[in-house]
Parts: sequence; structure tokens; C-alpha cells
Amino acid sequence: MSLDMLTIPAQCVAESRIAELDYNNIEFGKIFADHMLVADYKDSAWQIPQILPYGNMSLSPATSAIHYGQSIFEGMKAYKDANGDILLFRPLDNFRRLNKSAERMCMPAITEDIFMQGLEQLLRLDAAWVPPTPGCALYIRPFMFATDEFIGVRPSSNYRFAVFTCPVGAYYGQALKVAIEPHYVRSAEGGAGFAKAAGNYGAALLPAKAMQERGYHQLIWTDAREHKYIEESGTMNLMFVLDGKLITPPVSTTILAGITRDSVLQLAQGLGYTVEERKVSVDELVEAYKAGMLQEAFGTGTAATIAQIATIHYDGLDMDLPAVEGREISNRISTELDKIKTGEAPDLYNWVH
Ligand code: COI
Repeated sequence: MSLDMLTIPAQCVAESRIAELDYNNIEFGKIFADHMLVADYKDSAWQIPQILPYGNMSLSPATSAIHYGQSIFEGMKAYKDANGDILLFRPLDNFRRLNKSAERMCMPAITEDIFMQGLEQLLRLDAAWVPPTPGCALYIRPFMFATDEFIGVRPSSNYRFAVFTCPVGAYYGQALKVAIEPHYVRSAEGGAGFAKAAGNYGAALLPAKAMQERGYHQLIWTDAREHKYIEESGTMNLMFVLDGKLITPPVSTTILAGITRDSVLQLAQGLGYTVEERKVSVDELVEAYKAGMLQEAFGTGTAATIAQIATIHYDGLDMDLPAVEGREISNRISTELDKIKTGEAPDLYNWVH
């Protein structure tokens, strides 16, 4: 189906809720913009999408996504530039990653025109919800789930794709204390760890809660085989500065191919830093820390952007890292990235839509 942008029918709200939004005090993920995009997949084809007022969806209790987890999502952000134009950061990368997740979860691919034209039309309608406030953005949540009313285990024949948005501030308000997880596993080779599948997040809640009860904001996942190599942290990819080099574990079947991760690596290379995508062992981190070479650690993600790590705990040792203010590489890249996203710096990498 080829979609003419003007053909997305929109049912608009009678009165916007925008007055509820305090632009100077935006919490993450609690307030939702006026409209959402919805498209259904049936008879082996995506149907014409619709824009509707943001609101509840009615579902059968036998909806298969609820039982067997055929459910995937994306996270992306829109910003306002100095002229008030809306800039989307790397939306086609989110589109492609959603379809990689769909393939792994045995779901149909969404079409580029539904994804992109739907997004554009939704953002035009809810433009006022994109906060101009520094450090804030409109978080965009595309998602897809299985809608067959059937309780046997098999791929669904029907799906819903939808997108809603919410103005957000910082995901983490401070530098994080994280602990290396010695027991639980997020993902194993051959599994679905690279997919943005809902179940990956659900299964991480109990281990993360246990770490929080021990006084850490998040945990660091290690490989499933030996708990020897660093993988990800919470909802973020991980990066370290060891002896002046920016180092991050390579993407694999167990690690999400983060779009912020990729942006940081490209920017770092462009700024002349040495970048290494390679396995990082827990032992290497501990040794580097003891030798005074573990200079920076941070997480990257759409929601978290660049989240500084203050302390890494492992086996009785709290590795307290140098003060955030003095961290050259992550601070410089974070500033550059923010400038590109908001149109303040030239878009040399063609990331902004
Ligand atoms: C994102 O970075 O967009 C995420 O996926 C985090 C989200 C689970 C809040």
C-alpha cells in the first residue's frame, strides 16, 4: 500500500490538554500528548492508519500479546530548533530497528510510509507538545503487538501498530551508582536480546529491583555463559574511557544496537578520539580502576541520552570514578550531540529529519 500523507484520517480532540503541561517541570513518561497514530494489520496487510485522540484501547482478555509477549517497541525523540521547527533524530534508524525486532518476534514489518508519514502528521498535529526547554524533548513511543483473540501458542495473524508521544525531561536525574550482576542474565547468544521486545524489559525488573534494594540505581549485565564480559546496563548501552580510549562492547545477538550508542561512536571518531568496539571483561575494568586508568563510564540510550556513572560495584569493591565535571570525552560528546539534535550545530552526519 502506498500512502498519501493527506489520506491519514485524523479524529482530533475537541480541546487540547496542553494547558496541563508545565514546560519547566516535566517528569519522564507521565503526561501524554493529545493524539496517537493507530494502524491495524489484518488479512496479511496493513490497513489505512488513523490518528485518534490519545486514549485507552479496548482489548480482549485473550489478546495473544498479553499471554505470549509478541510485543515490541521503539523510543525516539523530537526537539525544537531556534525557529520552532520540529527536528526528529534518526527516525529511519528506529524504523529499521523496529522491523528487526519484528522479524525476531515473528511479526510483520511495518511499512516506511506508515511509520514516517504517520509520525510526521502526528507531530504536526501535536507540535505544541514538543518542549522548547533545554534538556527536554518529545519522547515518541512506536510499538506493535499481537492482537489475535486466541490462546494457542502460535504467531498471531493480526497486529496493531501505534505511536503516542510524551514530553519528557531527564530519565535519570543524577550520576548513577551501578553494580555488576553476578547471577541473573538478560540475554543469551541466539536469544532475543538485540530486539526491543517487551519481555526483555519485564524479565529485567526483578534483578534491577534487587540491586535497587542494595542501594544501586541500576545493574550491569554480564554475558550468560561466564558472567565475565560486560553487556549493557538497565535500558542503556555502556561505554568506558580506559586510558584515554573510548571502549564499548560490540553489538551482538545479546546487545541492543543503540542509536545513541552509534551516534556517540561516530561523533567520537569524528572528534579524533580512539574508539574500540570490543569485549570488555569485568577483570579488565577492575584492573584499570586499580591502576587509575578507568577515567569515565556512562550509559547511552534514547531515554537516558548520556547517563554518567559515578560508581561501579563489583564483588565488595565500590569503584568510585573521577568527578563528572572533569570527564572530557563524554561531556564533549554529550554537548555536541545535543547541539546537533536541536539544530544548533551543523548536521554533518545527516541524522536530523
Ligand atoms: C529508550 O531509551 O528509549 C528506552 O528504551 C528506555 C525506555 C525503556 C524508557
